[in-house]
Order: sequence, then C-alpha cells, then structure tokens
Amino acid sequence: MTDPRPLLFFDSGVGGLSVLAPTRAILPHAPIVYAADNAFFPYGVKSEEEIAGRVPVLLGRLTERYRPRLVVIACNTASTIALDPVRAALDIPVVGTVPAIRPAALASQTRVIGVLGTDATVRQPYVDRLAAEHAADCTVLRHGSAALVALAEADLRGEDTPDAAYAAVLAGLLDQPGGDRMDSVALACTHFPLIADRLAAIAPRPLSFVDGGPGIARRVAWLTRDQSWPTAPVPGIAVFTGPIDPTPAFLEHLAGFGLDRTARL
Ligand code: DGL
Repeated sequence: MTDPRPLLFFDSGVGGLSVLAPTRAILPHAPIVYAADNAFFPYGVKSEEEIAGRVPVLLGRLTERYRPRLVVIACNTASTIALDPVRAALDIPVVGTVPAIRPAALASQTRVIGVLGTDATVRQPYVDRLAAEHAADCTVLRHGSAALVALAEADLRGEDTPDAAYAAVLAGLLDQPGGDRMDSVALACTHFPLIADRLAAIAPRPLSFVDGGPGIARRVAWLTRDQSWPTAPVPGIAVFTGPIDPTPAFLEHLAGFGLDRTARL
C-alpha cells in the first residue's frame, strides 16, 4: 500500500515554489498541493494581527480539504508570526521557514551579513533571537522590500523586470553603515531565491545569497522518512484563494514545478 496523502506547501504567492523545488528533488513522487493566499497577497506589508488571525484558519480549511501528511509554511512572514498558532491548530507536523541567518553567518568572512526579507519579517523578535544566537559576532543589516516580492511575482508571470529595480533593492542593504563590508545575505523571504540570479548579476561585488529552501526540504524528507510514497510522480495542484490570471507563461511555470492543475479554495 502506498500513501497518497500530499505534502501541503503554503505561501502568500509564488515564493513557496523556491521551497517546493528542492523538496521535489529529494522526494520526486510526493503528491503536492501548493496553496497561495493570493487574495491577501502581499503578506509583508500586513500587520502581525492580520497574519496571525488569517493563516491558522486558512491552513485549517486547507488541511480539511486536502488531508495532507505534513504542512510546510513556505513563507518567512507567516512562519515568523504564526508558526505557533498553526501548530496548535493542526494535528499534523508543520515545518516553518526560518530566516537563513545561521548559514549566512557561517558563510561570512567579513562578519557583516544582510537579512533581506519582507518588512514584516525583518522587524520580528524571531529575527532578533536568530541574530543573537547564530550571528552574535556579526553586524546584521536588515532590509524589508515589498518591491522585490513584486518583482519575483512579475518575473514568474513572464514579465520583464529591469536591472535597476533589483539594484535599488540591494542598495537598501549596501548603503547602510557597514554595507560596504557585507559579504553574505540571508534571503529571508521565499520569493527571493526565485530571482537570486538577478541580484547576483547586479551586485557590485560577489555576495553569497543564502537560500534556506534546501535545508527545509531535508527536514521534510527526514520527518517523512518512514512513510511510503506513490510509485510514480503524481500531478500536483496549485490552489489559490483569489482569482488568477492564467497566462500561458504562468501556467507553464507552475507546470515546471510539477503543478499541472489549478484550483480555487
Ligand atoms: N514569500 C513570503 C515570505 O517568505 C511573503 C511575501 C509577501 O507576501 O510579502 O515572506
């Protein structure tokens, strides 16, 4: 008997695809439900109360409908604000997305690191704790960028996004005191690994952009290590809370992540 229950990935938009991709690389037969709360996108400019009130309820509805074996909150904003209430509301394992401050500090020679996330994420006490625990000897520069989230979404829809827009975002870190010595940047929003190559291309010098996705994928594989999977890949479903513009470029992109069907919550 194989177990047909899916893994449920959750984000405000397409960012969680950066966590889904490394997970599929390790667990290629895992049935996938990818849920995007596009009706409430973007999360990064919302209040803590709004996120904490919405995410556990939504994940309750999604788990009731899709009966997943495990949930991945593939969103730093939702994880840093709502991980505990989601865990309290669900009786299955919930994996959160923690800003990759520890690996960014490990990668840094200069001991100046950047944390690039949403406005909501970079102001969280959770980030203070990670910085104190894993980067106590580093200068930790933070920058929240709703613009970069929008650029990642536009890029995935197949739209042209100008280099200058990426450069303006990176300047938000590089222009801070100490920014001239920063050598490593934690991509603390799951949207950002999707456009990390664009950031690397316009950076004035080589910077390490640290993506937490592969570590989360390994965690999912570990937590499900004793479970069975279908014997062949299963078409995945992308579920949206609001209307989408199903352009061929967008649908093709989703299909590239194994998401062959779309549905509405
Ligand atoms: N992808 C999300 C994150 O990791 C949120 C982006 C947004 O909706 O602002 O924080």
